[in-house]
Amino acid sequence: MPAQIGVTGLAVMGANLARNLARNGYTVALHNRSAARTDELLAKHGSEGDFIRTETLQELVDSLEKPRRVLIMVKAGAPVDSVVDQLVPLLDEGDIVIDAGNSHYEDTRRREAALAEKGLHFVGIGVSGGEEGALNGPSIMPGGSRESYDSLGPMLEKISAHVDGEPCCAWIGTDGAGHFVKMVHNGIEYADMQVIGEAYDLLRNGAGIEPAEQAEIFTEWNKGQLSSFLIEITAEVLAQVDAATGKPFVDVVVDAAAQKGTGRWTVQSALDLGSPVSGIAESVFARGISSQAEQRKEAQSLLAAGTSEVVLGENFVEDVRKALFASKLVSYAQGLDMLTSAAKEYGWDLKLDEIAGLWRGGCIIRAELLKDITAAYSAEDKPANLLFAPAFVEAIAEALPAWRRVVATAVQLGIPVPVFSSSLAYYDGLRRDRLPAALIQGLRDLFGAHTYQRVDRPGTFHTLWGEDRSEIEATDSH
Ligand code: 6PG
Repeated sequence: MPAQIGVTGLAVMGANLARNLARNGYTVALHNRSAARTDELLAKHGSEGDFIRTETLQELVDSLEKPRRVLIMVKAGAPVDSVVDQLVPLLDEGDIVIDAGNSHYEDTRRREAALAEKGLHFVGIGVSGGEEGALNGPSIMPGGSRESYDSLGPMLEKISAHVDGEPCCAWIGTDGAGHFVKMVHNGIEYADMQVIGEAYDLLRNGAGIEPAEQAEIFTEWNKGQLSSFLIEITAEVLAQVDAATGKPFVDVVVDAAAQKGTGRWTVQSALDLGSPVSGIAESVFARGISSQAEQRKEAQSLLAAGTSEVVLGENFVEDVRKALFASKLVSYAQGLDMLTSAAKEYGWDLKLDEIAGLWRGGCIIRAELLKDITAAYSAEDKPANLLFAPAFVEAIAEALPAWRRVVATAVQLGIPVPVFSSSLAYYDGLRRDRLPAALIQGLRDLFGAHTYQRVDRPGTFHTLWGEDRSEIEATDSH
């Protein structure tokens, strides 16, 4: 019997996806650059389903039913190109090459276009949920042609997580759309973790609540509005005690957050799109500061704190919870708004209700909140910004006084809360009647004759700053 799908790249994510496919009844051909890994998988898990062992890409290709489906799970970047280059000459028209890694969507667009010229489908799929998700049901964001999804979709939907009987997988859009959406998912993931970190810092260094007690607080929070995978595992990490020292685990871990790059990519492309993902950007920058070990060391003795004594309100913990919720919501709003901008730029028909829907389960940012977000975008009257959906207008209004108090308190205590505060600034920036951008336009016009529009009549204007300061209608030379 030929295999229905081949998997090449059997490190833990590839191996777990292969096992997930086999456990769901598909015959899976296995390939890895070194066959030892293939043999290890077969020795440990060969009984979980039907696998075909192959040693070369040619053998892998020969073992597949047509049109062939080959899933690549190797490190993003050059390794993907290398495998694709080796595979392409072995394939026939109509075959499908799937890249399930965290590839940059521009790479996916390039590969899709190159393979399409050869009559092959290239499908970049975002897969979220870590090792556990890959094995038991991830959230899957497939791009590529609609035609390829017709062949691939049922398989992907079957192995994906399910929420209320619905698969956490849906065709996202052509070429790099799947990887783009996965990238933004990761941007939100960064912000989501940073706001949790800010809440932890405030509770620890503002209110003096130790990690073990905080674990209980997060467990409680996980029962309400904040219920989500990341809050759940925060309780787990905070409850962990280091066996070697008896100290809280968080106290023995170096406080420099690493990154593989997807959060940074989100911000880079947001800048190109002009999309204000300030919370996501701040979360990437916060990781950056955390990793500047030498400067941080020098700053500790050099830079004044200038903090003030603050008497915390008796509802401080609840205030922090509300600030966390509101800031988290803003991060989702910013990420989803970025998807709207990208859809226009790249000609994708991104359906925000489906995207929020498939993030409800399997992925790292899965949260109760996503049910309400899905509902907001399923409504007839779709909000231009998530924050405008009636349920969220109300939820933020309810959290707002606490959110402002927490940011003000953090500033006085000298505890950095870049995402709490930038999210609030984003919210206020949207909400304000007049912004100082008018002054900026004036400055631009003065030093560079960059022109401006008036509030009271149409047209483009320039003030003759260096002459009599009269205003003229701008011409092309201005
Ligand atoms: C997921 C995760 C996954 C991975 C991140 C980690 O959705 O399953 O996002 O893709 O854990 O890439 O990213 P950083 O190393 O950049 O934090």
